Amino acid sequence: MRILVTGGAGFIASHVAEAYIAAGHEVHVVDNLATGHRENVPAGAEFHQADILSGEFEELVARLKPEVVNHHAAQASVKLSASNPLGDLDANARGTARVAEFAAANGVRKLIYASTGGALYGDPEYVPVDEGHPIRPISAYGLSKYMGELWIGLVGRTKGLDYTILRYANAYGPRQDPHGEAGVVAIFTGKLLAGEQCTIDGDGEQMKDYVYVSDLARANLLALELGSRRALNIGTCSGTSVNAIFATLRDSVGSEATALHGPPRPGDVRNIWLESSLAAGVLGWKPEVSFADGMRATVEAARE
Ligand SMILES: NC(=O)c1ccc[n+]([C@@H]2O[C@H](COP(=O)([O-])OP(=O)(O)OC[C@H]3O[C@@H](n4cnc5c(N)ncnc54)[C@H](O)[C@@H]3O)[C@@H](O)[C@H]2O)c1
Repeated sequence: MRILVTGGAGFIASHVAEAYIAAGHEVHVVDNLATGHRENVPAGAEFHQADILSGEFEELVARLKPEVVNHHAAQASVKLSASNPLGDLDANARGTARVAEFAAANGVRKLIYASTGGALYGDPEYVPVDEGHPIRPISAYGLSKYMGELWIGLVGRTKGLDYTILRYANAYGPRQDPHGEAGVVAIFTGKLLAGEQCTIDGDGEQMKDYVYVSDLARANLLALELGSRRALNIGTCSGTSVNAIFATLRDSVGSEATALHGPPRPGDVRNIWLESSLAAGVLGWKPEVSFADGMRATVEAARE
């Protein structure tokens, strides 16, 4: 089938595009290269440089009339969202509303949306957080991603667009930008390999759910046919502290470095991990890559 992947020059969606190509689909990638890189777009995908907020993007959807739109393009940094909250309103909330509207207007069968389980629920009342947990984001990023979900739900109800919303835990793996603002695993891997100083935000005991990127790509493959009109957590149901990540990466790299501690990050949820049994039931999805294997593969890829 013909699939349009937004944000496919970025970290996660480049793996999604790759998985779709491997499954025999015709893949088009649209990206404005704000944080993405042209070389991340897998061979075999057709690349269109455009902003989802532009008229060019609207024309592209009308011209391609894809069967599925997979929407990953976003301003994806919680840290940047704290300094420019209204930027997220444009890129994430308005951007996603546009993607949903153009999809519905052009006969797209299904929209798959990369949402966030880590930033949507806010500080959890309980862990693991399931999809029934109250939604009270504490960052403009989390709120803007949720606004995207709400708009997709509206277009689904009023215009018949089918959709699956995937609420990811913290993603890590090859091609995550070590120079970016998000992604502690990529940042520490890059710095440890370069012999540079790592700084841990706060005391480092904050625990998050880290999911390997190939597991996310597989959820996107399954969502082509399953998970109609559902919002599903995609995580590992276990938390790992930033201090533990630093120690694991330091061992993998073979470094003896110590880390500095900086101030905690504004808008950052302290402890969260996701209950993903709904995704197991609906998509037949479970994470397959263990934390140890994923960290090893990430370091190996960064060395190359
Ligand atoms: N990385 C994570 O841990 C994580 C967790 C939960 C959800 N997500 C979501 O997954 C998606 C991908 O995140 P990522 O970590 O791969 O980030 P990324 O920055 O690597 O990828 C985002 C891509 O979108 C592109 N983009 C940004 N604004 C655009 C616009 N207006 N028009 C066209 N392209 C635009 C960027 O150039 C980039 O290639 C995002 O929607 C993010 O909210 C990520």
